[in-house]
Amino acid sequence: MGKTSAVDTIGILTSGGDASGMNAAIRAVARTAWDRGVKVKGIRRGYSGLLNREIFDMDRTFTGDIISRGGTVLFTARCEEFKQEEYQKKAADILREEGIDGLVVIGGDGSFRGAQKLAAHGVNTVALPGTIDLDIACTEYTIGFDTAVNVAMEAIDKIRDTSTSHERCSIVEVMGRNAGYIALWCGIAAGAEDIIIPERFDGNRPKLEAKLIDSILEKKALGKKHHLIINAEGIGHSYGMAKRIEQGTGVETRATILGYMQRGGAPTAKDRVYASYMGALAVDLLCAGATNRVVGYRNGQYIDYDIEDALGMSKDVDEYEFQIAQVLGK
Ligand code: ADP
Ligand code: F6P
Repeated sequence: MGKTSAVDTIGILTSGGDASGMNAAIRAVARTAWDRGVKVKGIRRGYSGLLNREIFDMDRTFTGDIISRGGTVLFTARCEEFKQEEYQKKAADILREEGIDGLVVIGGDGSFRGAQKLAAHGVNTVALPGTIDLDIACTEYTIGFDTAVNVAMEAIDKIRDTSTSHERCSIVEVMGRNAGYIALWCGIAAGAEDIIIPERFDGNRPKLEAKLIDSILEKKALGKKHHLIINAEGIGHSYGMAKRIEQGTGVETRATILGYMQRGGAPTAKDRVYASYMGALAVDLLCAGATNRVVGYRNGQYIDYDIEDALGMSKDVDEYEFQIAQVLGK
């Protein structure tokens, strides 16, 4: 099949925050490429490593024993200078000098912008959505979200045990940057009484806290033994909120910020399988001559979009899902 492929050598890099399942994607890119008669080069440390020529020939031993591991075996980085045209051109020149005529970038929408710039400089590029935040509009699935939610849910289950034993209120802050998807999913999965997300926050903190205080007192009167609040990182301020809630309710309140543990852990089956199919599709797109594309998953299908179109899309938390989350917390 090598002769029919539009590309001869595919490079792979991971960029932005790491996400469980990135290794499954790397493995799928490499193994699909080899199956199609295409050579593979690994690029360490994202765009920063590309500019430093941290590039190596990938062989079969590299992709062994990685599907079950969290993080990214290619390491990842953020690279401010790559936002400048001068460095984008330099990176495209390096890729050409290395004989890399197809590139797979795994990262979030910041990384997609970098991929778009490389495509504009003549490098055939396909991006895969790799972020725990699920904040990429063109896709219903991002690599790492499912694992992050499961890891956080298990931690929240443990907090619930101690919270019930002490009849306390617990505020648990989860990641997600400006998006509330992790909070919403964890909140439903862990049976939280309240879920607060940036998409449904008008910026009025006293109003939000007054609402939480009412909710705690109301549910306590109904006989609830604990009150679990899942707070999204985009709202933050969990420690201060805990203090004010305790003062306003008389209920002992503790805050926990889960932090980076949510980015680690062995990927779930879903993250391994979806990431594998997405990695394979990225290669097949490159072999077919595609460039400036991003792979997504929508309505049960793996699909691809022009990066510009993908970046122009917007999404919001589904209102019905948010409303039901309130109902189930009562
Ligand atoms: P994510 O990819 O998870 O959204 P970032 O937003 O930090 O994470 O972006 C990752 C990297 O992508 C940045 O450090 C930078 O190297 C590159 N990048 C982000 N925005 C741009 C841009 N506008 N142009 C070129 N490269 C960009
Ligand atoms: O995008 C993934 C994410 O973990 C966000 O949820 C969080 O806001 C951010 O990355 C943290 O970034 P850093 O690793 O640079 O601290």
